[in-house]
Amino acid sequence: MNAVQILTLTMLLAAGGSDQLLRSGKCPNPAVQANFDAARYLGRWFEIRKLPTTFQKGQCATADYSLKSPGVVGVFNRELLDNGTISSAVGTAKVKDPAEPAKLEVSFSDDVPPGPYWVLSTDYDSYTLIYGCTEYGLFHVELSWILSRKPTLPNETTEDLLSILSSIGVSVDKMAATVQDETYCSPMNQ
Ligand SMILES: *[C@@H]1O[C@H](CO)[C@@H](O)[C@H](O)[C@H]1NC(C)=O
Ligand SMILES: *[C@@H]1O[C@H](CO)[C@@H](O)[C@H](O)[C@H]1NC(C)=O
Repeated sequence: MNAVQILTLTMLLAAGGSDQLLRSGKCPNPAVQANFDAARYLGRWFEIRKLPTTFQKGQCATADYSLKSPGVVGVFNRELLDNGTISSAVGTAKVKDPAEPAKLEVSFSDDVPPGPYWVLSTDYDSYTLIYGCTEYGLFHVELSWILSRKPTLPNETTEDLLSILSSIGVSVDKMAATVQDETYCSPMNQ
């Protein structure tokens, strides 16, 4: 590990405590959605499950994707915090290599390096499974989200997506369910 990696790791450990998943070894190299079509992926998605992250603490989370320019997707994430305020983040997602269109990189700030956003499986109209893994020397940090076009997702679909994650070694018991209750989440509509 070089100095930057050690520093990053220390910061992750300090910031994340135990809630962000730091695992030993290299990142897996999962299969991604074949012939990914960003145009069909645009619009609103509701978060159904996710691995814990340091940067998302709320519930009722949504993601809105829009086409900014060819190959560049605008990202607008919102969530309802425990104290009733809505937190939002604006970013951009870009395809790094046109030969692998399902492997995007998302960036929310010029100060932070972009993070991997790989679409492992989507049917565009109901569900998507996102995975991102970053190596820090001997360790790696994983992110994953299951999103739905609706605030709910059929149990069988969730099970299928969790089994994909399980097959690449993700601890699916850590995939926390996101509250999308209509009443609880009503502040999101204001
Ligand atoms: C709610 O919590 C967020 C995050 O901790 C904080 O930034 C914000 O100021 C809080 N808002 C209120 C109204 O307490
Ligand atoms: C699906 O339903 C079964 C039976 O109710 C339950 O045991 C299981 O935890 C559910 N799976 C998910 C992903 O919610």
